[in-house]
Order: sequence, then C-alpha cells, then structure tokens
Amino acid sequence: MPGEAQAKRVYLTTPIYYVNDVPHLGTAYTTIVGDALRRYHQLRGHEVRLLAGTDEHGLKLEREAKERGLTPQAFVDQMSQRFRDAWPKLLVETDDFIRTTEARHEALVQAIWNRVQESGDLQKGHYEDWYCVGCESFKTEKELLAGNLCPLHKKPVERLKEETYFFSLDKYQDRLLDLYAKSPGFVAPESRRNEVLSFVESGLKPLSVSRTSFSWGVPVPGDSKHVMYVWFDALSNYWTALGGWESELTKRFWPADVQAIPTADDDPLVIHLMGKDILRFHAVFWPAFLMSAKMPLPSKVYAHGFLTIDGQKMSKSLRNAVDPLRLAAELPGGASTLRYHLLRAIAFGQDGDFDHAALLERYNADLGKNLGNLLSRVLGLCLKNTDNTAPAFEQAQRIELDNAFLKDVQASLKSAIAHWNAIEPHRALEATWAASSRANLYVDQAAPWAEAKKGDQARVATILSTLIKVLEHLSAFIAPALPDKANDMRSQLGLGALSSALNTDRLVINFEDCAARKLGIATPLFPTLDPAAVAALLLRLVPKKEPTMSEPANPEDAPGDGVLAATLPGLGPIESPIDPPITYDQFAATDLRIGIVLEAEKVPKKDKLLRLKVDIGEAEPRQIVAGLALSFAPEALVGKRVVVVTNLAPRDFGKGLVSHGMLLAAGESNSLRLATVDGEVLPGTKVK
Ligand code: MSP
Repeated sequence: MPGEAQAKRVYLTTPIYYVNDVPHLGTAYTTIVGDALRRYHQLRGHEVRLLAGTDEHGLKLEREAKERGLTPQAFVDQMSQRFRDAWPKLLVETDDFIRTTEARHEALVQAIWNRVQESGDLQKGHYEDWYCVGCESFKTEKELLAGNLCPLHKKPVERLKEETYFFSLDKYQDRLLDLYAKSPGFVAPESRRNEVLSFVESGLKPLSVSRTSFSWGVPVPGDSKHVMYVWFDALSNYWTALGGWESELTKRFWPADVQAIPTADDDPLVIHLMGKDILRFHAVFWPAFLMSAKMPLPSKVYAHGFLTIDGQKMSKSLRNAVDPLRLAAELPGGASTLRYHLLRAIAFGQDGDFDHAALLERYNADLGKNLGNLLSRVLGLCLKNTDNTAPAFEQAQRIELDNAFLKDVQASLKSAIAHWNAIEPHRALEATWAASSRANLYVDQAAPWAEAKKGDQARVATILSTLIKVLEHLSAFIAPALPDKANDMRSQLGLGALSSALNTDRLVINFEDCAARKLGIATPLFPTLDPAAVAALLLRLVPKKEPTMSEPANPEDAPGDGVLAATLPGLGPIESPIDPPITYDQFAATDLRIGIVLEAEKVPKKDKLLRLKVDIGEAEPRQIVAGLALSFAPEALVGKRVVVVTNLAPRDFGKGLVSHGMLLAAGESNSLRLATVDGEVLPGTKVK
C-alpha cells in the first residue's frame, strides 16, 4: 500500500541445500524467488532479510566424503563454497549464509534440544524401520515402491535398527490442526495445505530424532553417543541464524508471540520458501519442535512445485541437469534473462517445465520486442523530436487518449503489487508486462511522428513525457526480477540507479510531475536473436542425450575440418573402445605444436566454420579452418594458446579456402573445448 507509515519486517528463507550436489536449476529456482521477493520488499521500503545456507550433516554426507577420501569437514567446506559463490552470479543478494557446521548454529540447536527435553517430549527407545539416505528420512512400508525402493529417489531403502530419542510428535497433533485452522495461510498454496491436513489428521506417531550408527551430526547434549537427526538440526537454522533469544535480529525478525501466528501490523512476517518435496518437514515437524520448545512459529511455509527440463524429469542419470551458472553466462541478457523466465514461465506453487526453446522465445518476445523495443522507440523519438530530453509537461495538456492509457497502466501496476504481496511472481510480471504492451499500443495510437509532421510540438512533448513517465515506473517494477537491466534502463532514461530506503516506497504510482530532464544514450537492452542465432544457442545449451564417437554424418564435423574432437565434456566415460596400440614412431610422426590464435572470423554461409590465423613460430601465421563456430564466438579465440597438428595434408574447403593444420579439442561440435597448455609456452614449441 503506497504511503504506509510503518515499515513491514519480512524474513525470507530458502531451504539450506545438501552439499552432496552442486547448485542446479531446481535449487537456483527457490533462491531466485527468495531474492526477487527480497528486492520487492526493499523497494517498498520494508525491512527485509533473506537467509540462505547449506545443510552439512547426516549419513549421506558422511558417506559421500568417505567415498572421496576426504574428512566430512573438508568435503563440506569445499562444497558449501560452491553454493556461496553461485548465488551472486545469479544476482541473488542474501543477508546471511548459514552453514549447519558453524559453531553459532550448533550451540543454539543444542539449546533448542534442551528446551524440547525440558518439555518432556524426548524419550529414549529403540527404532527399527526403513530409511532412505537420499531423503534422510524414515519410510513406512506402505510408502515404498515394489522392491523396497524410495518413491522419490527410486533407490533401495535400508533397514535401520538402533537406539534413538523419540520426539512426541503425536502430542502436537491437535495443536497443529488448530494452527492450520486458525491460520489458513500458514501452509501455502491452498492445494498443498490439504495434503498437510490429511497427513496430520491421519495420525502422527513419535518421531525418531537422534542417531547412534554414525557420528557426523550435532551431538545430543548430555548423551554423546547420539547425534541429532539431520532434520532437527537443519530446520533450526532459520532461527539460529538470527543469533538466539537475546539477539537484536531475533527481536526484529522472529515473532514474539509464542501462541499463534502474528496478527499485529508491525509483527514480522517469517516466510519459509521450499519445494513440495520437503513441505512436510516444514509444515509439521518444524512447528511441532517450536511448540515443544515454547518458541514462536513462522508465519508461512510456501511450497512451490517441481521443475522438469524440456518435458523430462531433471536427473543426473538423464544427464539433463541444467547448470544455471552456465545458462546465465551464455544467455543474452545474462542472469536477468534466466531469472525473468523462471519467475514468469512457472506459476509459483505449481509444477512447471523449463524449456530452453521457450526461454529464447520469451527473451525475444517479452524482453526484446515488447519492453526493449518500447524503450528504444521512445528514446529514438525523443532523440529526433525533443533533443534527447524528457520534456516537461502539465497535466492539463493531457487528452482523453493519454488519461485512458495511464489509467490502464496504473491498474496493471497496482495488480503487480498485489501479486508480489501474494507471492505470485509470475502474475506480478505478467501484470508488469501488460503495462509495457499497453505502452506500445499507446505509441501507435498517439502517433507522435504524425503530430510532429503537423508541427504540433506541444502535443509531441506531452506524448513523449507521458511515455517516459511510464518507462520510469517500469524500470522500478522490473527490478525484482531483472535488477541489473532495471538500472541499465534507468541510465538510458537519465535516472540514477535504484536505491531503497526504509519507509520509502519506490513503487508509488504517480504520473503527475515531470520536470525536463536530459536522457541517456539509447542502446538496445535486449537485442533480439534471429532464427539462426536461436538455433545455434539451442544447440549449445540443450544437453544432447546420445553422444556418439562414430563417423560424423556431416563432413564439416570430420576431423579434417581443422578440429580433432576427442572426448565429451563432463559426460563420463565414452562407450567407444580405445584404439589398437601404435608404436612410438607412429605417434611421433604427428607434429604437434603450440600455436597462438591471432585472428578468427566466421566463414560466410558455413555455420560451423571459423577461419583462423595461428602463429606457430613460422615466418607467417598459418591459416587454419576449424569447425568451432558453434562453440566459440570468433573474438573469444583470439589470444588463446592451442595445440596444432602441423603436418597434416592441407584441406581444400573450396573457393580458395584451404586449411593448413588442425586444432585439438574435446567435445561435441556445439560444446567443444580446446586443448591447451597451462603456461606461457612459446608458439612453435613441440608437444610430445
Ligand atoms: N537439506 C534439505 C533442506 C533442509 S531445509 C531446512 C534438502 N536439500 S536439497 O538440496 O535436497 O534441496 C531441496 C530443495 O531444492 C527443494 O525443496 C527445492 O527448493 C529445490 N529443488 C530441488 N530440485 C528441484 C526441482 N527439480 N524443481 C524445483 N525445485 C527443486 O532437501
């Protein structure tokens, strides 16, 4: 609500991810949503905090470390850093990053444990059941698939029997049901709420919350034989990260009322974001632990759906897991394009498909042709008609056409705000883009070029200043999803970068005032991709499922095209057998030398070929024609050290294009990586 006085406090959390995996598109998705919400609240002048982190204990990690010959601590140190480094590359800003192996966390989890014990909710006993190490969770017989497989991981579960502390989860059944009834928004979205309700209504049993068969966990206070169940430890991170009962942050960001969900206006909102796979832990176990420890509850647990990739489940075995960092690096518009697509294409709360082709289509349509084009058109018109200035104007000069336009834009932007508040990023962006489409329509309707022709400069100024005003608003409204592009847009509009300040709402909708202002330099924000560029990018981005080493069907793929492709990057062992042995003399007959690429350019009408000039220490650089164009932009190759086969017979590509050598590279034709040396070896040096 524009103009509200009291700063809202919002504490957002993402799951803390297991460090046995690297950041992938699924974990990036939740984290990007968290960041977009953080940015939205900041723009509204709210006090907001986003927590991310890593979950580093448990049997799964202990085993994984062992397999790699590392201590668990050394292993989790390495892996956690990959998450910490990944998020900023996706333009995610977190206020804190917690690791469950940190002392600040362990001490406070033990304090929570003690309070649960004081409530009489922990009893020692023996447990025997099926356990899925992937889920770090016990499974009942009826949950398992045939062959005792975990329904999520499709891997055999293990029979565990050990001494354990049981938490009296059953004791909290009624209080949990009461919570869901009194706070219908506690579990969101609605469809998931019903799932949780029926789970709790069907009856809760005591929960095993400690383990004795391994030691990689937080020790149970007073009973060092036991380590805490990893979920007891992990869920507590949301609270321990604030620093405990006495800390200022806890006072500001965790509700004070033990009994129920906050209701007072200035109570903080605590919102846990996660995928549907781990909703039960957050909506049932976590509030029960907190109730037992006599601690206040979060405000909302929001479970989103799962992403599939190009219509298929994302999995390591299908080799289709998408690396969000690579995407962000390769996409036009960078991380912002990826963020926009994820936030817009997937209805938050529902399952959704991440389709590479749809992403590029959306880039061209929404970012290039809609918003980008609007900005270019308006700035172009200002350059031509108003000396690159946003003209000053008076409201009285606006006619019905202008006012109807502004009314529609206002309605769309108001709806965007309502949707951000309701945690519906896809709808918020849809509404924002409706304003942009409306503005494009207005340009056509108002036709400032026709007014200019008539010589009505005043009318031209009114139209252009009205459009500039709307673009200013759009530059702020797109910022939660496309933070860097929002600022690029503002600089073109002659505005400073967006800044946020407590109690200051940057999303106030006001088209009134407009003093004259010099505009910046117009450059396309999102240059559109032509069909050939889309096809080439798709070839690079979409992981191919069936790599083969057989003879290339296309002569341009043949080794003779200047590249000797040997293995496939990152896809594990190759099925083709190793070739029969050769003698040393046979090997030595190949003259391999270090070269430095001096020039590289595309070969007209040949999609895959680049023409290179390579210095191999001879009087003149050699011309080598190489099938690298699908993997490298020509300029990316200049200056690179390469390994050149120098004594191969020249190959004639026709029309006088002859290749005098070949480069060594590995990979498929759309994702080749060059063989090189790890130091500044002189050109011409033999490789042996
Ligand atoms: N460590 C626990 C969470 C503890 S939170 C107190 C865990 N970690 S995890 O690494 O397995 O991450 C699971 C989360 O990653 C999901 O809840 C979801 O947020 C995200 N995703 C993983 N794969 C996903 C998809 N395919 N699609 C969307 N999100 C997914 O569970």
